[in-house]
Amino acid sequence: MRISLIGYGSMGKMITEKLAASDEGKNHSFFVANRSKEKLQNVPSGVVVCDSNSDCARGADIVFLCVRPVDLKTVLEEIVPVLSDKAFVISLNGSVTFAMLEKCFSGKMAKVIPSVTAEVDRSQTLVTYNCKVEKTDKENLEKLLSVFGNVIELPENEVGMGSELVSCMPGFIASIFDVLCTSAKKHTSIPDAQVVKMVLQTMCATGELMLEKDMSFEDVVTRVATPGGITQEGTKVVYEKFPEAADLLFNKTLEKRKMTAERAQASFGEDA
Ligand SMILES: NC(=O)c1ccc[n+]([C@@H]2O[C@H](COP(=O)([O-])OP(=O)(O)OC[C@H]3O[C@@H](n4cnc5c(N)ncnc54)[C@H](OP(=O)(O)O)[C@@H]3O)[C@@H](O)[C@H]2O)c1
Repeated sequence: MRISLIGYGSMGKMITEKLAASDEGKNHSFFVANRSKEKLQNVPSGVVVCDSNSDCARGADIVFLCVRPVDLKTVLEEIVPVLSDKAFVISLNGSVTFAMLEKCFSGKMAKVIPSVTAEVDRSQTLVTYNCKVEKTDKENLEKLLSVFGNVIELPENEVGMGSELVSCMPGFIASIFDVLCTSAKKHTSIPDAQVVKMVLQTMCATGELMLEKDMSFEDVVTRVATPGGITQEGTKVVYEKFPEAADLLFNKTLEKRKMTAERAQASFGEDA
């Protein structure tokens, strides 16, 4: 397949590099374009750098649109005249709806939300399809996305909250454990870097333990926090104090997501 990626920022670069370096990638040819040309100086060998978005999209089987929501409409309008009837267009953005995108392009479309954990081939990549997409299109796309992790299909209306859980979550996890480590460092002379490593290794191992042994959060808490013991003093604080912060976190992010969707809607020329 001819696979084109427009927008060579954080996501476009990561997807291109992952696919181009994979065994699956050997079956395909890759074309990239970006607004500022400097970013395209070090693309992986074999990837073709295009002068324009139209050159990139022309003849493509799959086009990944790796641009921010405000730039989506401009890019789509630019490439639609050169897209074939069979072209499969993939938007990386969860806020711009198929209804908006379909104002510019009436063919096969998907939305794909990868996570930064794709860097270590452990993305939980979300995908949702419009009604034009056929079984073989889904298989082809999911084979590509599997190169850097698992693929989870969701209905379009669940992609927002789904994105919080897999795409934003590395940021939430990192900030929560940053707070924990900052507090822990006040009580120890263990070097800061070692504190972080100890917590990170324990965090990863706890996740693996739960997945491998099919344990729930409650199972782990029960196993470690024996009644009247030291751990229980800590878990009690988490269960008493943290729910308010967690509710606030999702209220804030979902509110921001709604605003982003409204702005995207305005850029597509619709009243919010
Ligand atoms: N970052 C994440 O973790 C993540 C996760 C899931 C989904 N997403 C979604 O993925 C999309 C891209 O995000 P990102 O983090 O990769 O953004 P980014 O780093 O800002 O990259 C966007 C790229 O698009 C290029 N661009 C903008 N307008 C263009 C145009 N008209 N023609 C060609 N290229 C153009 C920009 O070029 P310049 O160099 O000229 O600015 C930039 O390199 C967004 O919709 C985002 O919501 C991101």
